[in-house]
Amino acid sequence: MTRPAILVARAVFPEVLEHLGQHFDVESNQADTIFAKPELIARLQGKQGAFTTGSERIDAEVLAACPQLRVVANMAVGYNNFDIPACTAAGVLATNTPDVLTETTADFGFALMMATARRMAESEHFLRRGEWTRWSYDMFAGSDVHGSTLGILGMGRIGQAIARRGALGFGMKVVYHNRSRLPAEQEAPIGARYVDKATLLREADHLVLVLPYSAGAHHAIGAAELALMKPTATLTNIARGGIVDDAALAAALREGRIAAAGLDVFEGEPALNPALLTVPNVVLTPHIASSTMATRRAMADLAAKNLVAALTGGVAPTPINPEAWTKA
Ligand code: DGY
Repeated sequence: MTRPAILVARAVFPEVLEHLGQHFDVESNQADTIFAKPELIARLQGKQGAFTTGSERIDAEVLAACPQLRVVANMAVGYNNFDIPACTAAGVLATNTPDVLTETTADFGFALMMATARRMAESEHFLRRGEWTRWSYDMFAGSDVHGSTLGILGMGRIGQAIARRGALGFGMKVVYHNRSRLPAEQEAPIGARYVDKATLLREADHLVLVLPYSAGAHHAIGAAELALMKPTATLTNIARGGIVDDAALAAALREGRIAAAGLDVFEGEPALNPALLTVPNVVLTPHIASSTMATRRAMADLAAKNLVAALTGGVAPTPINPEAWTKA
């Protein structure tokens, strides 16, 4: 019996490639080239499966050009690089990697929020430039995290994990806005209060964005929303680029309309809005919220497990569109 063929579209742990090689004919990309769409299509010819990351867009054009494709397994919890209705219409099962990155990503979101509130990047740059000559009473005075109000936009698994850190570890009051309200038994242990979006923006001392990207979430935080925030507030984005209007944010930071921002994701990344590089009160990191060795390995293992199960007659553990394979 011929083995299914798959494309591993980006570099990945060698052990994961070896495991995939036990089940499939694997075309790998350990050189880690980013394939433009025509090359992605060319390399997917004759492949039943694809191991992807956020840099590979699987849309109707790719699907139409790759009729043998049956499974696309994203090594990410977010899947805005997949056109899910198009995958479902083409009978292509899409999978992602939820849960395994929740706590690691929440750790990072909390760390980025703290670094932002306490001006860690700005003060470190000052020190590295050799400008530190004496102690002074208000040097890099930031804002307290403990006892302040933590605002969460997008109260999914990662949002809840950040809220737990804030409420239970730092005595923060938690307000949140989400498409749907959490059940009372999930709100109660962390004292989380569900509010509308405008109230969230007005009340938060530290606002953290953790919502998935969708067309409806594009520029969910723009000039109008930033104008509702306290001038002392911070904004942390670990969700997706495009949720924040980066140009409007850079202007708000420059003009002191909010105190500071921590950004792990950017519109059009890895390119950055150049204005963000010219404002001091922002902490910038290159989309690494889930990046610990253990978690990235767990994500790769889960993506591989999805491919192996789906293409060898099993049940993929974390499907996004199981209906792709169940409809007539
Ligand atoms: C995710 O899992 O969606 C991350 O953003 C990718 O690192």
